Amino acid sequence: MDQLTFLDSLLRTTAEQIDFFLENGYVVIKQAFTKEKADAFTKNMWVRLGMDPNDKSTWNQERVHMPPINREKVATFAPKAWEAIKELLGGEDRIDEQASTWGDSFIVNFGTPALEGAPTVEPPNLDNWHVDGDFFIHFLDSPEQALLVIPIFSDIKPRGGGTYIAPDGIDMIAQYLASHPEGVIAENLSLRPSTTTAANPRESPGYWSHLEEVKKCQKFVEVTGEVGDVVLLHPLMLHSASKNNLREPRVITNPPVGLRKPFNLCREDPRDYSLVEKKTLKALGVEKFEFKPTTERRSVVPQRVLRERAMLEAERKRLEQLELENITLITNSVPIAVA
Ligand SMILES: [Fe+2]
Repeated sequence: MDQLTFLDSLLRTTAEQIDFFLENGYVVIKQAFTKEKADAFTKNMWVRLGMDPNDKSTWNQERVHMPPINREKVATFAPKAWEAIKELLGGEDRIDEQASTWGDSFIVNFGTPALEGAPTVEPPNLDNWHVDGDFFIHFLDSPEQALLVIPIFSDIKPRGGGTYIAPDGIDMIAQYLASHPEGVIAENLSLRPSTTTAANPRESPGYWSHLEEVKKCQKFVEVTGEVGDVVLLHPLMLHSASKNNLREPRVITNPPVGLRKPFNLCREDPRDYSLVEKKTLKALGVEKFEFKPTTERRSVVPQRVLRERAMLEAERKRLEQLELENITLITNSVPIAVA
């Protein structure tokens, strides 16, 4: 293939991927990072977990979400994914520098003995549907979670515990957020207005249950792939962990990407809209949308963070123990000079 043909096919692929994103709200970047990068990141994963990859009896949880220890810039870890992220968000200058690194915060789906070989759970009946971003009050234009990103660190086969997504849920969530300029709390698989005073969240006017609403969706996609693939999804994508019926550990991360400023859904020049903004406008069925929050933008500390702090402490202890054992091994294997 000569250079021009190659460039032409590259541009066409990109154009096809853009159309696909605007239609479905996600895009798959194949082989966005190398096996070597993946191996280096996952090297100590089992020690950190305190489990044995060859002894299933040590896999004592269905799913684990690990805190990060190491980080690397996306631009060097997964250059192809970084290019796509910039394209989806309208350029590097719109992306928050703080949110341009990925960590080894693995989400491992082990399955359970009972799930191995069990029948597939139909996607609308999965028990984990949600939108990401439990650390801030959500508005339609929130900058904190500008994309949902899934880098894949293990080959994922069908029924192997891959994330399920519901692309037509984007329209539902966008319309819900558009009608709640007071902001929304996202927790416990639900949304509720941030101004609610109801003691029981379920009794809040405007309470939204993802598990109930997802049943209105028509289309469900199971995220499968290979080590090094990266899936980039619209931030309002409804998604759920699924049941791992293969009992082969499924390893991903889900690093957020943040923006320096909120999304702008009412730009003077339509050419300035990012692809994510275009998809949000498409979800609302309008050309532009003037959105003004009526309460302050603010972050919240979710229970998850407290759990992760305790896990991090336990992982550090196991890694220190490994280091001590290695030092002892090296010391014991030093040849003794004979005088
Ligand atoms: Fe999630």
